[in-house]
Amino acid sequence: MSIQENDLEVEGVAATALSHDFTNLGTRETEDRLESGVYPKREITIVRGEGARLWDDTGREYVDCVGGQGSANLGHCNPYVVEAIEKQARTLLSCPEIFYNPTRAELLKKLVEVAPVGMNRVFLCNSGTEAVEGAIKFARLLTGKTDVIATVRGFHGRSMGALSATWEKKYREPFYPLIPGFTHVPYNKVEAVRAAITENTAAILVEPIQGEGGVHTPSDDYLPGLRKLCDETGVLLILDEIQTGFCRTGRFWGGDHTGVKGDLMTVAKSIAGGIPMGAVLMDERFGPLDKSTHGSTFGGNPLTAAAAIGAIRYMQDYRLEERSAELGDYFMSKLRPLAQREGTIVREVRGKGLLIGLELKQKVVPYLKALMDRGVLALPAGPNVLRLLPPLVIEKDQLDFAAEQIEAVLFG
Ligand SMILES: Cc1ncc(COP(=O)(O)O)c(C=O)c1O
Repeated sequence: MSIQENDLEVEGVAATALSHDFTNLGTRETEDRLESGVYPKREITIVRGEGARLWDDTGREYVDCVGGQGSANLGHCNPYVVEAIEKQARTLLSCPEIFYNPTRAELLKKLVEVAPVGMNRVFLCNSGTEAVEGAIKFARLLTGKTDVIATVRGFHGRSMGALSATWEKKYREPFYPLIPGFTHVPYNKVEAVRAAITENTAAILVEPIQGEGGVHTPSDDYLPGLRKLCDETGVLLILDEIQTGFCRTGRFWGGDHTGVKGDLMTVAKSIAGGIPMGAVLMDERFGPLDKSTHGSTFGGNPLTAAAAIGAIRYMQDYRLEERSAELGDYFMSKLRPLAQREGTIVREVRGKGLLIGLELKQKVVPYLKALMDRGVLALPAGPNVLRLLPPLVIEKDQLDFAAEQIEAVLFG
């Protein structure tokens, strides 16, 4: 649409701010000109995806190790998800939670079927940060206490509650003051959490593996230690499974590696096969929460619910967590040796399943650009970690290609 200068007048004052014609702008110029500006952009335009492959507007193909930042575990345009959306789109698109709906009910059953035993109360929402926001509010409701202990390098989202739990300064500082009562303790240290607990502590909020903060895997006794501490003190354990859930780390949940269940659990990203959705899962011992204490217009939306049912069915039918574990071992066997090479710039290769980080001795951004030029899309995790989150349906030859290109850019 074009809005010409002086088209609009408010009581005689020309609205000159609206004097632009955007009709001839291309995709990139339009996004650069009209978006808020908060996203750093890469110089390609993605137009199509299938499995672990993406194509840009020139027809160039890429092996995708960004995986929709963790939302494409099932691959792009997964047929189970596409079919479910198509069918539901012709039936019912909008249905807020004030009404019952059979698709939503089916999703709730599916979700608790794959959830850790007893996590049988669900709040449905639309994103990861919203799930964290909900979990913080529920922890306050359930305990009557206010404070939350989070971890150094933890990432939980960017809305004000979730941001208060997020560690990274550059995300936090422009928005001070944040919500009071949040403290950060070193990750992987149970005693640090114990020391931080006060009479006001409602919950501990922790990722089973830190993703965004650099792909940090804790020792095997960390989550069990936190579980024990929470049982002793009555503080709630909130596991943030937003990045680690839905088969990403070689188990269905990140907590499954050590058999640890939270009191509350936040999920999002791949829950609906690439369609926006988040959820808070709660232990059933808490019972239903009080009416009207929380809510969301789009929570439990039937289109999203149908996509999520399709997505979870696919995970079950194809035992996606086993595939993730096997492919993760395979990819790791190619990447780990890069840290052992003479004069290497790779400090460490770490992760579980297909959540993998290569910590470099240098800044990662130039290497991401070089990889993209060679047909592989990857992510950073902090300033010097190269993060790989490929769809779990990726093929071995695509992992071979990605590993070869990574080796070429790091050692070429
Ligand atoms: C562990 C974790 N929690 C929360 C979030 C926030 O999710 P969203 O971007 O959907 O708000 C992320 C996103 O990367 C995450 O990795």
